[in-house]
Amino acid sequence: MHWTTLTTFGLLGMAQAQEARMLRFACSQLTVERLDPLVNPGVIGTPHVHQIVGGNSFRPSMEPVAYDLPTRSNCTSCTFSEDFSNYWTASLYYRARNGTFKRVSQFPNQGLHQNGGITVYYITPYDGVSNVTAFKPGFRMLAGNPILRNTTGESRGICHRCFEGDNFEPFGGAPCTGNDTTHFPDHFCPGGIRTQVTFPTCWDGKNLDSPDHQSHVAYATIPFEPYGDPVVHRPYTPEMQRGKCPDGFPVKLPQLMYEVMWDTRPYNHKELWGEDGSQPFVHAMGDATGHGTHGDYVFGWKGDSLQRAMNARCHQDKCSELLSQTPEDSMKCTLPQTMKEDVDGASWLSKLPGGVMIN
Ligand SMILES: *[C@@H]1O[C@H](CO)[C@@H](O)[C@H](O)[C@H]1NC(C)=O
Ligand SMILES: *[C@@H]1O[C@H](CO)[C@@H](O)[C@H](O)[C@H]1NC(C)=O
Ligand SMILES: *[C@@H]1O[C@H](CO)[C@@H](O)[C@H](O)[C@H]1NC(C)=O
Ligand SMILES: *[C@@H]1O[C@H](CO)[C@@H](O)[C@H](O)[C@H]1NC(C)=O
Ligand SMILES: *[C@@H]1O[C@H](CO)[C@@H](O)[C@H](O)[C@H]1NC(C)=O
Repeated sequence: MHWTTLTTFGLLGMAQAQEARMLRFACSQLTVERLDPLVNPGVIGTPHVHQIVGGNSFRPSMEPVAYDLPTRSNCTSCTFSEDFSNYWTASLYYRARNGTFKRVSQFPNQGLHQNGGITVYYITPYDGVSNVTAFKPGFRMLAGNPILRNTTGESRGICHRCFEGDNFEPFGGAPCTGNDTTHFPDHFCPGGIRTQVTFPTCWDGKNLDSPDHQSHVAYATIPFEPYGDPVVHRPYTPEMQRGKCPDGFPVKLPQLMYEVMWDTRPYNHKELWGEDGSQPFVHAMGDATGHGTHGDYVFGWKGDSLQRAMNARCHQDKCSELLSQTPEDSMKCTLPQTMKEDVDGASWLSKLPGGVMIN
């Protein structure tokens, strides 16, 4: 994402132009497997496959606080080398007409070098002055809902973008603006598909997690990021109270967001789509609609590094407050599968891993 929208705000009686400030960085693939220490702790062979990035202390079970990611990890697949957090989403599969599956590969986002994985964003408030409170050790959360198959109950900011051009176009604009959809695109995307997952920014200030991994956090009335068509973008005014949190969730968090780049380009052929013209992609949990898109987060930055980067309003993937590593070093940080199984289907899978049915 690349927002050139200028928002203006009054500061000491002066109007200042302010561009959105956000960390935006690459996290390469750490592992692809059926583990989910957030939703199914301790289970080896969880219901569906995830593609996971971040610190290599990722395990089937990661007890909050007690399991300290920064001390347990000795590498991360992310750009900032003090970020041992884990980030994951469900993998995506292509389903052939004969019912066999192959995992859709992932390509680097614009301007980044990575091997699969996720582009991670931590966005600061647009007023350019108020500070966010970084996540605490042991904090985790989930955005989206894997069981959704229609628009009922969807969270804001979880969408798919069809790149209509072969150069990440249209690139700008917040998630779920423009022609973004909460279902998978229904036509060929010449430049692939970008799935975007926006997390809530308001915390109850007490619980590091909750039974559904969602109710300790809430979405702000108006998110930090600009929304709507560029024409609708209005200058920032205090009245808009961008980022205002609902009652009971007083702590303003960084706006965490993922982008996942699916290389659907090899499948842009009529004979590779459904006989009836239907799109052929299926999330690992058997979701052929795209509504079940979700993302998981387990915080694991070292010390106060994330807080310092947010306060300093670091932008993109350079930050003088943070240690970083080369893309090559990030890509070297990988984990072998805990449960060995073919999740790729290079020579086709007769079923989705775990025997998941389309549902
Ligand atoms: C990284 O951690 C693993 C397991 O925690 C350990 O076996 C390995 O020796 C460590 N490697 C380095 C280079 O410290
Ligand atoms: C199923 O379809 C795929 C894609 O068209 C093809 O490559 C594969 O050989 C087929 N498998 C069988 C068993 O027909
Ligand atoms: C935000 O943090 C910065 C850096 O620590 C500090 O200079 C600034 O005063 C803080 N802003 C507010 C509104 O507290
Ligand atoms: C939408 O999905 C929900 C389950 O998530 C289901 O209960 C409901 O009937 C569906 N609505 C329609 C219109 O299909
Ligand atoms: C949405 O799609 C229409 C029709 O293809 C196109 O004209 C328009 O430019 C698109 N809007 C954006 C924001 O990409």
